[in-house]
Amino acid sequence: MSTPTLFSTTTFAKKPLKNRFVLAPLTRGRAGPTRVPNELMAEYYQQRSTAGLVMAEATAISKEGNGWVNSPGIYTQEMVEGWKTITERVHQQGSQIILQLWHTGRASHSDFHDGELPLSASAVKINGDQIHTPEAKKDYEVPRAMTVQDIKRTVEDFRKAAENAKAAGFDGVEIHAANGYLINQFLDASTNLRDDEYGGSIENRTRFLNEILEAVLTVWPAENVGSRISPNGIFNDMGCDDYRELYTHVIKRFTHYQLGFVHIMDGLAFGFHERGEPMTLEDFRSLYHGLIIGNCGYDQSKAETVIGSEKADLVAFGRPYIANPDLPQRMLNDWPLAPSDDASDWYGGGAEGYTDYETYKSA
Ligand SMILES: Cc1cc2nc3c(=O)[nH]c(=O)nc-3n(C[C@H](O)[C@H](O)[C@H](O)COP(=O)(O)O)c2cc1C
Repeated sequence: MSTPTLFSTTTFAKKPLKNRFVLAPLTRGRAGPTRVPNELMAEYYQQRSTAGLVMAEATAISKEGNGWVNSPGIYTQEMVEGWKTITERVHQQGSQIILQLWHTGRASHSDFHDGELPLSASAVKINGDQIHTPEAKKDYEVPRAMTVQDIKRTVEDFRKAAENAKAAGFDGVEIHAANGYLINQFLDASTNLRDDEYGGSIENRTRFLNEILEAVLTVWPAENVGSRISPNGIFNDMGCDDYRELYTHVIKRFTHYQLGFVHIMDGLAFGFHERGEPMTLEDFRSLYHGLIIGNCGYDQSKAETVIGSEKADLVAFGRPYIANPDLPQRMLNDWPLAPSDDASDWYGGGAEGYTDYETYKSA
């Protein structure tokens, strides 16, 4: 067999992928206050269906899971209908689309919850940074530690969201266990100070994620389910000393459940907690037999290296895809990439800086 490249075809859950490009999940804040996916978003995803696999942005599983202004949800029938238009558009381009299921946990604010504090594994606040709420930019709050009843309700919310994703025509779901959101807050020893069966040992800290996976697997075949992890990440004030043992255990659980894919933010371009040597794709490959998606700071050459050496099966591009909807064609033809460096409209606004990036016009 020839060496795979970014442009080789492959399959996801037995269905063809036209290349090894993944559109990384990118919160773009265009759903408006109703959080219902709309036509503008459909156009954006259609434009970026040059990737064989499209990861839709982080999407709240419940009202309680919200923590970002104008980001979408998947917990009402209207939201399901909105997403349907998007999945149809992506399928028309011959690509598959996965929904990233999200609960923000402590990375939220009482302004999103009618004055109620956001939830987390423990009452540990995000240090330093501030959050945009529907009202203003504010300091983070000390979250309320979830009761076991809260945990069970949230597991059920993930299951229901997975069911809604299926009804909306997605090809699979990605459980968002990365970037300091709720599941990550349970995994990480610095944010999980619990002394019940959900805290303490690595097995206990992983229990919430396991329960979510088991619930989602009652809805979807395992080959359509994956999870995103950020073993090296510092975003949202994360990082713990036993991260190596933790994520080795987590990947073994993914193998146990025979998940179709794992999406690993192995690169350090989104911040590094510096608690030891970064974990690499090699740390995971021998422990996991499904598809591995690498991400974070990849350019074409780095992507070809990990795909060619089969350390990853696919590579997700985030920022490069913002300004280059035709990213695969540009890379294939050695056309220059447009800079994606105007962050002012990354996280909100209208069509400007969202759907108005053009494809490369060769002379
Ligand atoms: C505007 C923006 C929004 C993002 N939203 C999400 C998100 O919804 N879910 C997620 O897991 N990561 C999110 N990320 C992280 C990206 O998926 C990706 O991991 C990061 O940009 C690094 O990849 P890159 O170097 O190819 O951009 C976001 C990043 C950016 C710049």
